[in-house]
Amino acid sequence: MPNPIWNETLEIGIPSIDRQHQQLVEQMTLLVDAMRENRANEEIANIIQFLDRYISQHFSFEEHCMATYCCPIACQNQDAHRQFVQTFQQIKTQFDREGSSLSLVLQVNQSLLDWFINHIRKIDTQLARSMTCPVNYSQLPTKTNAPQ
Ligand SMILES: [Fe+2]
Repeated sequence: MPNPIWNETLEIGIPSIDRQHQQLVEQMTLLVDAMRENRANEEIANIIQFLDRYISQHFSFEEHCMATYCCPIACQNQDAHRQFVQTFQQIKTQFDREGSSLSLVLQVNQSLLDWFINHIRKIDTQLARSMTCPVNYSQLPTKTNAPQ
């Protein structure tokens, strides 16, 4: 059973982004649990594949929102995303090479899941605060380019 880590204290108050964050936190939790329980490599690879695609869609969407709302920490957010993607790719490569291991479970738990929750609390929450600044609504990302 996945560990229910997502809760409303992680919501930043922007429903589309909150849904994406919830999806990511749930899938990363699922990944930790699947690795810890030594599930089939194919099952783990499917979760990694989903995360790989969804992370890049979510980060692009969120960076677009931050740029549109002139969020003062937009660059810091982008750098943090880049660092996360690099860590994710290293973990993915290690899994492809060696499969699951205790060390990989710890890395996914700390460097992906904990990192991401911390990132939501410290950086992403500032996007909601920036939404009070004047904005050109025609440039906002639409529902059609938001990951579901
Ligand atoms: Fe972010």
